[in-house]
Amino acid sequence: MGDRLFEDVETARSYQDFRPNYIGLGLEKEVASFMGLRNQRSQNVDSVGLDIGCGNGQLTKVLAPLFTKMIGIDRSKSQIDVANEVTTEKNIEYRVNLAEDLSFLQDGSVDLVSTAAAIHYFQPEPFLAEVDRVLKPGGCLLTVLMRADGFYLKTLTNNDSVNKKCQDLMNEFVDVSLSIVRDETKKVLSAGMYTAPDYPDRYSFQVTSKRQYDNIDGFVGFLNSSETLQEYNKQFPEEGDQVDRLKKRLLSILADTSSTPESTPVVLSLLHNCYLYKKPM
Ligand SMILES: C[S@@+](CC[C@H](N)C(=O)[O-])C[C@H]1O[C@@H](n2cnc3c(N)ncnc32)[C@H](O)[C@@H]1O
Repeated sequence: MGDRLFEDVETARSYQDFRPNYIGLGLEKEVASFMGLRNQRSQNVDSVGLDIGCGNGQLTKVLAPLFTKMIGIDRSKSQIDVANEVTTEKNIEYRVNLAEDLSFLQDGSVDLVSTAAAIHYFQPEPFLAEVDRVLKPGGCLLTVLMRADGFYLKTLTNNDSVNKKCQDLMNEFVDVSLSIVRDETKKVLSAGMYTAPDYPDRYSFQVTSKRQYDNIDGFVGFLNSSETLQEYNKQFPEEGDQVDRLKKRLLSILADTSSTPESTPVVLSLLHNCYLYKKPM
């Protein structure tokens, strides 16, 4: 399934339009501090960052201010096309490329390899071998992982009963999504277990990304951007459209507090575990 995901341009666009992103979470400060970098790229001369499984450049853009050159790669041409459309930073280059074959890069040429919400799609051994090859001694790997138990949905009201039902709905979204992913992906998203590099110098922290949707259409846009819900729809058409089902459930939950449930704002938060690993000198 991993091979076919993110291939269509509509999913790539809705990804850009409706997903929470990493702006303003302080990720770049954590990276700079762990790596001993200055937070201006002009002071990190000839430095290179590489963001793998970059999607539309969500993390690429956040890290680009640290490096002279930032490269974002993704296997999906649609994601790279949208990334090019929405990026204005001059020091970012995108290319269609697999995580497991970085032969366009020389040995020891990269300061930071990063990957967000993507490592569970990669083949661990060739990916890590390539990361180790391209990193400079003292260079770092950053992994950002969404946690399956870290999806939160709330209204802006303090109505606990409604917010609890919103949360139940979000848990159901996660359960449906996890039910069709491969075991490796499940291990990563539910238990945070993935093959990590054997570098002893490491540091972990958490960030929460947020997105407020001013009405239910925005949240439906998020559901539509979920490649796993779409795949579920294809595999189990007899169960009906999952996006439609979750939308109707949410409207009926919100009808308890509002006479216009469609225009009720909701906030989605995603908790991410982040790990930094330093390649020995
Ligand atoms: C869930 S998206 C994450 C996008 C972005 N990094 C973010 O955090 O929003 C995962 C991305 O990984 C890409 N991907 C999956 N397998 C890949 C591989 N083997 N090599 C490169 N990219 C891959 C997909 O095309 C998709 O764009």
